[in-house]
Amino acid sequence: MRTAAEEDLPHIARLDREVFGDAAYPFFVLRQLFDAGFTLVVVDDSEGICAYALALALASEGRGWVLALAVGPRQRGTGLGRELMRETLCHLRSLRVREVLLTVEPANASAIRLYRSLGFTERRGATGHVRDYFGPGEDRLLLSLTL
Ligand SMILES: CC(C)(COP(=O)(O)OP(=O)(O)OC[C@H]1O[C@@H](n2cnc3c(N)ncnc32)[C@H](O)[C@@H]1OP(=O)(O)O)[C@@H](O)C(=O)NCCC(=O)NCCS
Repeated sequence: MRTAAEEDLPHIARLDREVFGDAAYPFFVLRQLFDAGFTLVVVDDSEGICAYALALALASEGRGWVLALAVGPRQRGTGLGRELMRETLCHLRSLRVREVLLTVEPANASAIRLYRSLGFTERRGATGHVRDYFGPGEDRLLLSLTL
């Protein structure tokens, strides 16, 4: 597990496409997020990059976002998602982040269970379940964790 290098970007884009299909980040977006200093943590095994997380630290606000988390279908259920999240949270903490936010599809039970087990909780009231967050019918839960 390590932070990503420029040459990893095409492999992250391939994994993202495999996991998220049409909702994957286009390569040029990943490239620009990398250049802009977003945090990218990857798991690189014998077959290449099999998992990654993308995060943003807003140090002046003490706040950070986990923007993506993906484990390749063949590697799921072996603890990689949890390890990646822990490493990403550790990285955010080192960047003076004190509160981490993320959004998740309400039906994504495995991701929600993982986030809750790490201490994330749903934001109270109307901000917890955000209707049409990504457009019509694309609701998201907004979860937060104090580091
Ligand atoms: C969600 C995801 C990242 C989990 O990664 P993973 O490596 O399979 O997860 P882990 O093996 O580390 O498991 C960690 C915890 O996640 C939860 N979890 C993982 N798979 C699960 C499943 N099939 N059903 C229910 N809970 C599950 C459990 O709480 C598990 O802890 P436990 O084993 O102690 O019960 C992975 O399934 C994935 O990439 N899914 C597609 C992309 C996605 O949905 N990303 C999140 C977008 S917000």
